[in-house]
Amino acid sequence: MSLPVNSVSTADLVAAARAMHMRDPTPIFEDPYAHVLCGWFFGLVLKFRPLEYLLNKLVLDAVKPTAMCVVMRARYAEQTLERAVQQGIRQYVIIGAGMDSFAFRRADLLEHIDSFEIDHPVTQGKKLHRIRRAGLAVPPHHHFVEADLTQVSPVAALSGSSFDMGRLSFMSLLGMAYYLTRATLSATARSLSDGLPTGTYLVFDYLLDEESSDSAALPLRTKMLDFVEKRGEPMRASYSLDQMNDLMVDAGFETVENFKITDVEDSYRAEFGTLPFDIPGLFAFGLFRVARRTS
Ligand SMILES: C[S@@+](CC[C@H](N)C(=O)[O-])C[C@H]1O[C@@H](n2cnc3c(N)ncnc32)[C@H](O)[C@@H]1O
Repeated sequence: MSLPVNSVSTADLVAAARAMHMRDPTPIFEDPYAHVLCGWFFGLVLKFRPLEYLLNKLVLDAVKPTAMCVVMRARYAEQTLERAVQQGIRQYVIIGAGMDSFAFRRADLLEHIDSFEIDHPVTQGKKLHRIRRAGLAVPPHHHFVEADLTQVSPVAALSGSSFDMGRLSFMSLLGMAYYLTRATLSATARSLSDGLPTGTYLVFDYLLDEESSDSAALPLRTKMLDFVEKRGEPMRASYSLDQMNDLMVDAGFETVENFKITDVEDSYRAEFGTLPFDIPGLFAFGLFRVARRTS
């Protein structure tokens, strides 16, 4: 993954999506820190409604519905983490954390667990600067681990921290699988299953291939792929549910859940009533667990 050093990053963009979502009448995920962590550009945009309107109209219109996936993945990851913590898991690793504000939002979970966020030094440097400027206190059980994941595996990155390799953990990889080739996703998953105990969880979101996407959402898919390509961060792989199952099983995992995000639409409508956007039928979520080694 290449990372533009001085530009407005996708981490900022998705944080801004979470901040804008807070204004929806029925937010499905509440991130009250997103507007502080999304950086000066989006901070300004969020302060001045006409700017926000213009940005949405001129730049983001084509991709705005995908913001639903951003908030849904955050919600899904933390719901599945809560289940894992109830089962006794005590470590959470946020791979490619971006401007995720877990550390500040989830004091309830941080009473029981240690959390570790791994990110590229450029992104993490920006985030730490924003945290300091906002005067946010980092809880003692939350740890920052900087690593360029093109150079080291998440397991190698964690080995220099207080992370306990022998204990079960729950890992998230949100908004990242899109930008990895199949080979890199597979190698990343393999390094986790080789280096961590049986039962370690990994949750992530990914892009559905064209055949598995809702046909009505295909024009949006094309616009989104164009948008990220033009910004120099092309999406490199998409999958059917079966292809993802196979990739993860080959990489030493078993599937706990693997579904299209449109599958939860009915339950969301039952819980929230009207949704701010239709759920775009382009994405899927998977929860996988390191399988018992057979040899
Ligand atoms: C789209 S953002 C997602 C952020 C966050 N997970 C979320 O859902 O809001 C992608 C993240 O991947 C990180 N990333 C990209 N390339 C990386 C690399 N080579 N090493 C470590 N992190 C990387 C970026 O810094 C960024 O935080």
